[in-house]
Amino acid sequence: PASTVPLPDEDLSIGGVPLTELAERFGTPAYVLDEDEVRRRCRTYLRAFPDADVYYAAKAFLCRAMAHWVAEEGLGLDVCSAGELELAVTTGFPPERIVLHGNAKSPADLQAALRLGVGRIVIDSTSEIARLAAAVPAGSRQKVLIRVVPGIAAGGHAKIRTGTDDQKFGLSLADGSAQHAITRVLGQPRLELVGLHCHLGSQITAVKPYLSAVRRLVGLLARVHEQHGITLPELDLGGGHGVAYRPGEPALDITGLAGKIRAELAGGCAAAGLPVPRLAVEPGRAIAGPSGVVLYRVLSVKRTGVHTFVAVDGGMSDNPRPALYGVRYAPRLVGRHSTVATEPVTVVGRHCEAGDILASDVQLPGDIRPGDLIAVPVAGAYHLSMASGYNLVGRPPVVAVTSGHARLLVRRESLADIQERDIGL
Ligand code: LLP
Repeated sequence: PASTVPLPDEDLSIGGVPLTELAERFGTPAYVLDEDEVRRRCRTYLRAFPDADVYYAAKAFLCRAMAHWVAEEGLGLDVCSAGELELAVTTGFPPERIVLHGNAKSPADLQAALRLGVGRIVIDSTSEIARLAAAVPAGSRQKVLIRVVPGIAAGGHAKIRTGTDDQKFGLSLADGSAQHAITRVLGQPRLELVGLHCHLGSQITAVKPYLSAVRRLVGLLARVHEQHGITLPELDLGGGHGVAYRPGEPALDITGLAGKIRAELAGGCAAAGLPVPRLAVEPGRAIAGPSGVVLYRVLSVKRTGVHTFVAVDGGMSDNPRPALYGVRYAPRLVGRHSTVATEPVTVVGRHCEAGDILASDVQLPGDIRPGDLIAVPVAGAYHLSMASGYNLVGRPPVVAVTSGHARLLVRRESLADIQERDIGL
């Protein structure tokens, strides 16, 4: 499929607001989210999966406004901590449309989930079963799914592959621990097993791994039916749908994916004599990623004779992805038209280590200089949600744009904010 990178348009604006104006008004670095694009992407999912539950994976990016948009569009929410859960619910997100994940849910996570009444909790380990059951108040039942590891390798990088055996997530199909967990959950009167879950990994650009997952999970549904005489009504296939970070890169076509999953599921269930379970998906990156742009100001340019280092006012504290996964971005010069030919440069951050590289070997005009503005598209997912406090530079703000208007959603972390938490001697 063709690239869908929404590079800023000809006049380099987002949501009808020029990037230069955003940088002046909100400062740099700044993260800008196109509200309409987020909503469009939510609708694409709902259209592609009309009879399914679509949970937005909050880990990609969450703030109150984002929770509100997603709720308004009719999606559910995938959370993996009491922090994400409380932020969403206190913003008005309906708790029954929330699913809680986590390979190591803390007592506080489980308490918050039960107190706020989340719709579903996904059981990730055997030890969690009794712990959760004991926390459910007498007289009530908590809907749960079991996270199955189907033994499928997929995903953009080893660090974000979760479908293979012998890793920290889920209960393996191959060694029987998924089957064992199912029996254990069915023995807990305060837990109501409603289905199976799996999440193969992230930044997946092929359909095939999802179809393999459907086959294996339908196989397990059939065994559950045989062994326990019950039909589990839900099948959650997780997220992982890949996006293009640079022009020309492949992205997963959601409508195509949905059609093929439906066909595979219908065929598999018919062959096994099972009713088709209700599907769920949990996209994070594919909703937030392409909806966001980050703006940086160039602070220095250094030519070593081998490399040209263009240093900007952010870096690995607001985007650790290049350092962690070797991801490549396509930064662009914004706000002035250069007629000078482009040359290969390395865009680096301001942090105190040589690995703080945002984009290596990218083409920027040869006259790039301090004061220039740089925009990096596809910055909406797993940037700010993974931001760190490294070097105490403070986290960038989040700005929303829609139909020509910009508004601040999350303010910049100030030096006062940082110092406030430090109790002192
Ligand atoms: N569901 C579950 C259970 C997950 O663990 C994840 C992501 C998702 C859904 C959403 O996956 P998505 O559609 O966003 O690919 N920090 C990494 C990505 C880690 C993904 C973790 N789990 C990155 O920056 O690439």
